[in-house]
Amino acid sequence: MESAQPIVCECQPAALKRAPTNLIDNAVKYGKRARAAIRSTPQAIEITIDDEGPRIPKDELTRVFQPFYRVEGSRSRETGGIGLGLAIALSVVQAHGGRLTPSSRPEGGLRASITLPL
Ligand SMILES: Nc1ncnc2c1ncn2[C@@H]1O[C@H](COP(=O)(O)OP(=O)(O)O)[C@@H](O)[C@H]1O
Ligand SMILES: [Mg+2]
Repeated sequence: MESAQPIVCECQPAALKRAPTNLIDNAVKYGKRARAAIRSTPQAIEITIDDEGPRIPKDELTRVFQPFYRVEGSRSRETGGIGLGLAIALSVVQAHGGRLTPSSRPEGGLRASITLPL
């Protein structure tokens, strides 16, 4: 059983919450569903958001962080966004000294990992 100890982070909460919110929003929109997990180590807090969407080609994985960039196939206005969610998530995480790393899951879909230093 995982411990249910609260994880305490000194941060700008209104800004920082945009990061997991935007990632979960994307996972639901492009990846069918979101599975979020949080854990802490003595040095850092790690938040991962997994989805079950299509594989994003490796070269696209870095480009999706550019403002207004949207992968072919999600450019339709029907999916709503304008391509700022990941750029905002990245800048907020970096402003807190953290990292935001996207990777392809072996099972398919995307994993977004946020690491915040404690
Ligand atoms: N979980 C995901 N699975 C597949 N593609 C994604 C995922 N998250 C983001 N993307 C791609 O990255 C692009 C940029 O994402 P984002 O910055 O949140 O902008 P928006 O959601 O407004 O389009 C999306 O348009 C989509 O093509
Ligand atoms: Mg988005």
